[in-house]
Amino acid sequence: MLNGKTALITGTNRGIGHAILEKFAENKANIFAHARKETPDFIEKISRLSEKYNITITPLYFDLSDTTALKEEIKNKIFKTNQKIDVLVNTAGIAHGGFFQMTPISKIKEVFDINLFAQMEIIQLIMKVMMKNQKGSIINLASVLGIDITAGSCAYGVSKAAFIAFTKTLAAEYAKYNIRINAVAPGLIDTDMAKLMEAGAKERLLNQSAMHRLGKPDEVADLVLYLASDKSSFINGQIIRVDGGKA
Ligand SMILES: NC(=O)c1ccc[n+]([C@@H]2O[C@H](COP(=O)([O-])OP(=O)(O)OC[C@H]3O[C@@H](n4cnc5c(N)ncnc54)[C@H](OP(=O)(O)O)[C@@H]3O)[C@@H](O)[C@H]2O)c1
Repeated sequence: MLNGKTALITGTNRGIGHAILEKFAENKANIFAHARKETPDFIEKISRLSEKYNITITPLYFDLSDTTALKEEIKNKIFKTNQKIDVLVNTAGIAHGGFFQMTPISKIKEVFDINLFAQMEIIQLIMKVMMKNQKGSIINLASVLGIDITAGSCAYGVSKAAFIAFTKTLAAEYAKYNIRINAVAPGLIDTDMAKLMEAGAKERLLNQSAMHRLGKPDEVADLVLYLASDKSSFINGQIIRVDGGKA
């Protein structure tokens, strides 16, 4: 489904981002695979995939909180070599739960830096390439917690709600350049993020899903693949839940 396309995916070393990396490789995209840092395990994973599917996977390394490193890496590996980017998937993110009075503003700012402002930096850079090519698809990893705002959501939930609002703004602004921007809002997905969640909050989320189970990273990756492909060419500005339906 992605033959001839080049994609940049963030947070590909584990979790949902890794499932998206595998799905895109299987569907023949050439990939810029972001990770926070280089590790033998990550190098082994991307080498194995590029060999298996006969595609190019170029690693990008930066911490999302380091704007200078982020800009440098994208400039050096994408701009300087005149690469095109057809698809951008903003997956990397952090979770945080807690009531407002128990949450230092510095923590809320940290969550916003990683879940919103870093994504804005990346999109602003990659949008230049997409506008030049007059086409592109951007997929943002939001969360059902950014839609069903509830107690304890002042950092993570509000950052994802802002990410959703930002997605809709971009979709309205860039449709004229043939660039589509959508968000995927997963429910509870079986990754490290869900494992680290407080037991009560986890149970509440499971109870809100009609299917009453954890989703698989691959089930999120399937939707991202569809949104990245030309099969979704008239879908723009949508926030699509992957949560087994509301109970
Ligand atoms: N799992 C769920 O239940 C769920 C539900 C709804 C939405 N989501 C969203 O889906 C996305 C992926 O979640 P996941 O479950 O796959 O999470 P995960 O397993 O915790 O993986 C998070 C990814 O983000 C990267 N990352 C975090 N902070 C970073 C930083 N400062 N700089 C660079 N990379 C950073 C991690 O890199 P390191 O390995 O270096 O830490 C890792 O690759 C997130 O945006 C999350 O909010 C997840």
